[in-house]
Amino acid sequence: MQTQVGIIGAGPAGLTLALLLQRAGIDCVVLESRDRAYVEKRVRAGLLEQNTVDLLHELGVGERLAREGLDHTGVYLHFSERVFHVDMLRLTGRKITIYGQQEVVKDEIAALLERGVPVHFEVAGVAVHDLEGPPRITYEGGEIACEFIAGCDGFHGVCRPSVPDGILTEHDYVYPFSWLGILAEAPPSTDELIYAWHEHGFALHSMRSPAVSRLYLQVPNDERLDNWPDDRIWDELATRIGAVNRGPIFDKGITPMRSFVIEPMRHGRLYLAGDAAHIVPPTGAKGLNLAVNDVRLLAAGLRAHYERGDDSLLDGYTTAALRRVWRAEDFSNYMTQLLHDLGQGSFQRALQLSRLDYLTRSEAAATSLAENYVGLPATDDF
Ligand code: FAD
Ligand code: PHB
Repeated sequence: MQTQVGIIGAGPAGLTLALLLQRAGIDCVVLESRDRAYVEKRVRAGLLEQNTVDLLHELGVGERLAREGLDHTGVYLHFSERVFHVDMLRLTGRKITIYGQQEVVKDEIAALLERGVPVHFEVAGVAVHDLEGPPRITYEGGEIACEFIAGCDGFHGVCRPSVPDGILTEHDYVYPFSWLGILAEAPPSTDELIYAWHEHGFALHSMRSPAVSRLYLQVPNDERLDNWPDDRIWDELATRIGAVNRGPIFDKGITPMRSFVIEPMRHGRLYLAGDAAHIVPPTGAKGLNLAVNDVRLLAAGLRAHYERGDDSLLDGYTTAALRRVWRAEDFSNYMTQLLHDLGQGSFQRALQLSRLDYLTRSEAAATSLAENYVGLPATDDF
């Protein structure tokens, strides 16, 4: 087999890249280790920036998103019995959309298969070779000769570890807490997301539909789900957020919190995108949006290469992608430090409360939070 771009991973990065390349008339093949049902059910992020929504529409996969996505114009910050509404639309002219990552993935897979782009599931033993020459992908039972490889295989994938030692610089920070997340058949108790600061720790009230709530609690890193029967989860949510509608919980999981970046995001003809290259803590809701932005830039570079023999965008990929990645790393870290129990005592807590109070008094401070949260406009170099 041979193709122009071999894409490893059928998450948001790999699938969006495949749609962008198909639109540009560039051949690609997507290889995914899991089965289709698994990737379509995996519960993860849920908040799309307008940049992401606009791109999904441009790619012709926004129809169900337009129907079922929930448009939000701001978020609430709860702290010390106070509620502050950050009116993102007024402050920035932009809004956000709630639509589950697995719904994006479902829509993208359906569109790719309908457009005849090969997406192969349950491909075992994927490995990448000859990254500086014409590269190859091998897997159990086959081999693909490629002109480029896109490593879109997430944080635990095979592409990043295939880069020889000494080439990538890693920046890594693991937070001393995790998020316990639930999905519940309960109508959301709020019209917009609530980010809650509380002495017991952070809590977040999000949603997936008018009938389904998505809620999170900060828990210690070594926490076990067995310690959290449903009633304890609901009671703790009520303590940290206030009155919350209860209902049957149908998904529960604990996610560790990490900040991670590698530089550069390329080696030879292997380009890394999304979680394969960087991780943010979910407090800023940036992970999925960054993955989509990476491949927007990568696709523009590949298009310039094939259409005009111009490699300047590919050569500038790392610089352009990392500019937004670092902005998101800083913002996600800021939101995390602002809202979580950092375990550092009363001085840090007082600083957090002062920063939250400042947001309510300063249009400049609130605008800075808002423009980062909704996502700064997408350009050729950002
Ligand atoms: P992924 O979605 O990880 O996709 C990578 C794909 O590659 C997967 O389908 C994987 O199966 C496949 N793959 C891996 N190894 C191989 C291999 N060897 N061969 C072939 N295929 C392979 N972000 C938020 O903003 N908010 C959240 O609430 C949130 N919650 C999260 C919860 C969890 C448990 C995780 C892991 C992430 C969460 N994120 C969240 C982050 C967000 O979901 C990711 O940033 C996003 O999925 C990145 O997309 P991606 O395509 O780069 O990687
Ligand atoms: C979600 O809906 O899953 C979600 C929303 C906002 C975040 C993180 C997760 O900051």
